[in-house]
Amino acid sequence: MSQDNPKTPSQDKLWGGRFQESTDAFVERFTASVTFDQRLYRQDIAGSIAHARMLAEAGILTAAERDAITGGLEAIRADIDAGRFEWSVGLEDVHMNIESELTRRIGVTGKKLHTGRSRNDQVATDIRLWLRDEIDVIAAELTRLQSGLATLAQQEAGTLMPGFTHLQTAQPVSFGHHLLAWNEMLDRDYSRLLDCRTRMNRSPLGAAALAGTTYPIDRELTARLLGFDGICRNSLDAVSDRDFAIEFCAVGSLLMVHLSRMAEELVLWTSAQFNFITLPDRFCTGSSIMPQKKNPDVPELVRGKSGRVSGHLMGLLMLMKSQPLAYNKDNQEDKEPLFDAADTVRDCLKAFADMIPHIKARPDVMREAALRGFSTATDLADYLVRKGIPFRDAHEIVGKAVAAGVAANKDLSELPLATLQGFSDAIGEDVFSVLTLEGSVAARAHAGGTAPERVREAAAAALTQLAQRRPS
Ligand code: ARG
Repeated sequence: MSQDNPKTPSQDKLWGGRFQESTDAFVERFTASVTFDQRLYRQDIAGSIAHARMLAEAGILTAAERDAITGGLEAIRADIDAGRFEWSVGLEDVHMNIESELTRRIGVTGKKLHTGRSRNDQVATDIRLWLRDEIDVIAAELTRLQSGLATLAQQEAGTLMPGFTHLQTAQPVSFGHHLLAWNEMLDRDYSRLLDCRTRMNRSPLGAAALAGTTYPIDRELTARLLGFDGICRNSLDAVSDRDFAIEFCAVGSLLMVHLSRMAEELVLWTSAQFNFITLPDRFCTGSSIMPQKKNPDVPELVRGKSGRVSGHLMGLLMLMKSQPLAYNKDNQEDKEPLFDAADTVRDCLKAFADMIPHIKARPDVMREAALRGFSTATDLADYLVRKGIPFRDAHEIVGKAVAAGVAANKDLSELPLATLQGFSDAIGEDVFSVLTLEGSVAARAHAGGTAPERVREAAAAALTQLAQRRPS
């Protein structure tokens, strides 16, 4: 406490001047955010150092004051890094904890740091810096997962499995093609992530509480020092906007929906009923009672965790709904959902990026399953069309052949030629080449099709494109 300030009941508060009584003990805990926003300390200190440099450039601080502040903040950062910092709930949040400690260490100069600034533009800056760093980590994990998928797709281009609609066997597809379908979903997530980063990367610093400041500040300078692409144009909007948090959760929710769809298929495919793939033991766990069990916990948990991120999206939308401009204390509630959403997305991506390259396919089982479900029925219809039969009639003919196959418990390719010819005399000896799985996929050789040669090309193209991604 400065000697020239008379002590008030809220003397320990940085804002205590106008108060006649101390804060209620419960209210102090209720309004504090330091238990969770201490996570922003690195961004808070980076923002303060940039602000101090700008104040010195503008002649508001001397070079010596700037250096004392910068040195003090760096020392505090080192102490927090090393776990040597005592956070105080009485000091409410990360911003006031650090500022008080700075003043305790370097004296009255520390009190000059907050010139031309408010916690409102400070916290808005901190969260944007924090989320920007998180997005970069998440984007790198996403790229790692996509690379794993494309590599596996290249190896498995020739592995044939049943493709499904309505979870009923539909047509044979390449396993690699299926993996590349997942990659397409994730590719869109990546571009949404970058898009969200670009819109977010503007500096609120200088908006102060809401109306800006009377000091001759240089907002472009702090923006540049902090790696922002520019400044928020309107001071009211700068302190009240949390769109970026909502956008991130929206992008994250959709990404998690994609991971949950992948997870669901992995769970199905590892079941004894499908038995299409195996996952390494190190990504599974056993049962405490059933000795035979090997449970796909990682995909199950990813599937389950997807709900959290959508929940946080809804929470943030409701948080911001109807808030008047500009800053409101409500906004303090943005952090926990945002932190948890980012942690969840990052951890789920890591789990999948680590696990997916080690999936082992069982080509024999996949093949067997594809042969069991009349998956080449469409190929037979297309064959009849090539012989001059209209598609609708061909569909009818093949439907009857399938019914015969069901009755005889045989695939179309296992029915004798004479039986097939009983349904249409357009059927010849050459029919068996289209009834094979290999013939079926090879015939779909157009762009985006499942022919193994196309899948190999698509996987190679994906890998080339992924290798060109630049870390932000
Ligand atoms: N802890 C606050 C938050 O997270 C910091 C900003 C507080 N500003 C204020 N005027 N009370 O939003």
